[in-house]
Amino acid sequence: MEGAATAAVAVEGLSRRRGSVRRGREVLSDITAQFLPATFTAIVGPSGSGKSTLLNCAAGLDRPTRGTVRWQDQEITGMGERRLARMRGEHAGFVFQSHNLLPDLTIAQNTALPARLTGRRPSPAAVREALSRVGLDDVEHRRPAELSGGQQQRVVIARALFTRPRVVFADEPTSALDRCTADAVLGLLRGAVDQEGRTVVLVTHDPVAAATADRVLVLDRGRVRAELHRPTPQQVTDRLAALQGPVAPREVPV
Ligand SMILES: Nc1ncnc2c1ncn2[C@@H]1O[C@H](COP(=O)(O)OP(=O)(O)O)[C@@H](O)[C@H]1O
Ligand SMILES: [Mg+2]
Repeated sequence: MEGAATAAVAVEGLSRRRGSVRRGREVLSDITAQFLPATFTAIVGPSGSGKSTLLNCAAGLDRPTRGTVRWQDQEITGMGERRLARMRGEHAGFVFQSHNLLPDLTIAQNTALPARLTGRRPSPAAVREALSRVGLDDVEHRRPAELSGGQQQRVVIARALFTRPRVVFADEPTSALDRCTADAVLGLLRGAVDQEGRTVVLVTHDPVAAATADRVLVLDRGRVRAELHRPTPQQVTDRLAALQGPVAPREVPV
């Protein structure tokens, strides 16, 4: 690293094997990448290319077979589960495709849950404000089932941002949503970067979603094949289409 900004998240030489020693295979191979503060990175690639595995390893939800993961100046690789859970609770927010809202809790309780799990006692006013910031007013006493899919995903974003995390990890957060609702959710993530200085790492197979990012990492067969800066959706589509051919044995990852 060239001195400048310390990366919010940095992965180095990251590999992840799946399966048994004899019959297993590497689903991530030697990935090195940095996610700088207040930047938005999208990870794209074909299904099975390792996007979720990379996100989960970077997020401290999965453990790499080789390599290291650092969050700012702390290496999280090798941390015990309790300490890792505390790190996640303090520094990371999560948004997944299936919203993971608890059906029996109110929207307010769902929003405040990660904060409470790390020992904080958020005020009702703070929860209201967090919901209002994602465009949801007067929903805090409702249950998730009473909200539309798009509203539920807004709650998830409010929940992810509520602890003021350094990094938000999002895995296909818009793939179950229509274009218009998806764009609204992407706008909230973009705003978290531009207005609040969060770092966002977004896994998506949608070139339009990817084009919301500052930078796009193109993954294929466990390796980063390309890095695009502020691409258009068409440029992302073209780069993905160019992956179709066989990978030359000595191809060097970009
Ligand atoms: N729990 C698991 N056990 C075994 N193989 C897995 C598991 N999760 C993912 N894989 C395999 O690892 C590869 C990468 O998966 P994944 O990271 O989910 O890809 P993507 O998110 O790009 O679709 C795939 O070939 C997938 O089948
Ligand atoms: Mg995936």
